[in-house]
Amino acid sequence: MAAGNGPWMALALLTLLAGLQTPALSEVSVQPNFKQDQFLGRWFTKGLASNATWFQEKKAKLSMCKSVVTAAEDGALNLTVTYFRNTQCHVWNLLLEPTGTPGHYRYYKPKWGSNHDVLVVETDYDRYAMFITQSTNVPGKELFMATLYTRSQNPVAERELNEKFRSFAHSQGFTDEAIVFLHKADKCIDDQ
Ligand SMILES: *[C@@H]1O[C@H](CO)[C@@H](O)[C@H](O)[C@H]1NC(C)=O
Ligand SMILES: *[C@@H]1O[C@H](CO)[C@@H](O)[C@H](O)[C@H]1NC(C)=O
Repeated sequence: MAAGNGPWMALALLTLLAGLQTPALSEVSVQPNFKQDQFLGRWFTKGLASNATWFQEKKAKLSMCKSVVTAAEDGALNLTVTYFRNTQCHVWNLLLEPTGTPGHYRYYKPKWGSNHDVLVVETDYDRYAMFITQSTNVPGKELFMATLYTRSQNPVAERELNEKFRSFAHSQGFTDEAIVFLHKADKCIDDQ
């Protein structure tokens, strides 16, 4: 090999190392054979993992959100998120646009001018789903987050699901401190 290749090798190695800190989306696999119609309906945010500072500060206070997923036009998903915070119920709407890969969606937040990729990594549709959200162009906010959805606020085999999510979060590079299991919401969200 010519000596002149040295700097390029170093650059390639640096790029590779930088890539290891946050898994590139192309390395995150989606649920094989993802069935969007079975993913519809109500979910609860049971677990989260994030390295964001705001998340570390607030995680003890976070309670579960409810998400209702409906099919929108052209293969998109409409997410209606309800949560309780600061003595009030909040409702928030998101449109997840398809990317062409089943289980991989994208949304845009006009308020921040940011793009967010959502990948459903694993789901059995009737008990749980685990996904990754990667955001770009979010000033001062976390770029990478893992989420555990469950169909019920009190899922069957809760401990097993929590452990499954913990392993998943570890596999994505999150440490135990970055993982939180949310407590049941006592307002705004019923389990019906
Ligand atoms: C998404 O759902 C909400 C609540 O049902 C509704 O108000 C909104 O129009 C829907 N948006 C789309 C794009 O379907
Ligand atoms: C989160 O922070 C820990 C500790 O700094 C680090 O080891 C880990 O790679 C980070 N994970 C992600 C997904 O950024």
